[in-house]
Amino acid sequence: MNAMIDKAVNGLAGWVNERTPGLLPFYRKHLSEYYAPKNFNFWYFFGSLALLVFVNQIVTGIFLTMHYKPSAAEAFASVEYIMRDVEWGWLIRYMHSTGASLFFAVVYLHMFRALIYGSYQKPRELVWILGMLIFLVLMAEAFLGYVLPWGQMSFWGAQVIINLFSAIPVIGPDLVIWIRGDYVVSDATLTRFFALHVIALPLVLLLLIVLHLGALHEVGSNNPDGVDIKKKKDESGKPLDGIPFHPYYTVKDIVGAGVFMIIAAFIIFYAPTFGDLFLEFDNFNEANPLVTPQHIKPVWYFTPYYAMLRAIPSTLLGVAVMGGAVLIFFLLPWLDRSKVRSIRYRGWISKTMITLFVISFVILGWLGLQPGSELQTLVARICTFFYFAFFFTMPVWTAIDKTKPVPERVTSHA
Ligand code: HEM
Repeated sequence: MNAMIDKAVNGLAGWVNERTPGLLPFYRKHLSEYYAPKNFNFWYFFGSLALLVFVNQIVTGIFLTMHYKPSAAEAFASVEYIMRDVEWGWLIRYMHSTGASLFFAVVYLHMFRALIYGSYQKPRELVWILGMLIFLVLMAEAFLGYVLPWGQMSFWGAQVIINLFSAIPVIGPDLVIWIRGDYVVSDATLTRFFALHVIALPLVLLLLIVLHLGALHEVGSNNPDGVDIKKKKDESGKPLDGIPFHPYYTVKDIVGAGVFMIIAAFIIFYAPTFGDLFLEFDNFNEANPLVTPQHIKPVWYFTPYYAMLRAIPSTLLGVAVMGGAVLIFFLLPWLDRSKVRSIRYRGWISKTMITLFVISFVILGWLGLQPGSELQTLVARICTFFYFAFFFTMPVWTAIDKTKPVPERVTSHA
């Protein structure tokens, strides 16, 4: 019986391969013969988890568009209809809204991994740049999606963010009208945001993800030791410290995905608003252009940048600082002059700077959720200062920091 099944499968595989000769080499290059370092740890789950969340957003998004009405008159009611009347609609919507927050959680952890293991260093600069482009598009995608339910926060959030463009000299005021498609945030704004959110940006994201992985597979993955595994190969040319991605890491990633889905399910079923963090309470009220909510604040994943914006008295400067805070990440591969990649072999200066950077980022995130008292503004300014100092002084402290010798081979703890 088994022999018969084998024969049929091989026959079918042969038949397909003859007609699509590129498929098998593709499978080999990216899966069965993609040699990944054998010392991947916990931090290496987040790339595959980001992929998983991306697929979740696409699939749940498709089902949402079946009932959602992209018009200012109907959007809010159509979301309520999805929540109350469409069978399993509440589940689909909460999977999508929770998915958005989890996307950012996973991507932030993924970026943090790159920071501590120096994964952006040569030869992976392009992997990093493509990752940063993904991050920018993801931010735009999340913002556009947030406007669609047409609740109070959707409307006023759109109002605040679009108005930021008016700070741009000369073209600002016209640009804002062009973006809105109207003199105020209106139906025209909603429909274009819908078009961009459901088709344009997801396509760009998909393309960038493919390029991100393509670029990674050209140069090979980094690892927690930052050792170049291609330097030590066996007689058949396989890296001594590499193992085939499939089946070893496909299986490992499935375990990660299982744990992640349990956590996600817990949030979706028991805490979908996550105490105002994932879905804001004000957004359960329909948009009303005549009533401004008491505290307009973005969803948690934007709050570090929002805190910076608010901490600067001039809008133009605030916008520049906020934009600069994201864009400066692009320069990381050239700001870091350390001879070693991984934090394991860096000295105390790098370890302290990275720890302080993460602490100031988290404090800024918390501050962005607060009303913004005088003391809070002061703390936000100090954290913003440190945030930029981290990058601007990086060429110095990475150069003078004492490093430890990097081993020839990866240190396997198994
Ligand atoms: C939709 C979002 C993203 C997806 C689906 C994604 C996917 C992946 C995957 C599957 C890997 C290989 C597995 C791993 O190393 O964890 C990877 C590696 C990597 N990603 Fe991403 N990524 C995303 C966003 C980003 C962002 C925003 C950045 C940084 C700005 C980034 C930077 C990197 C780097 C530097 C590597 C190589 C890591 C190493 O070899 O140590 N990625 N990505």
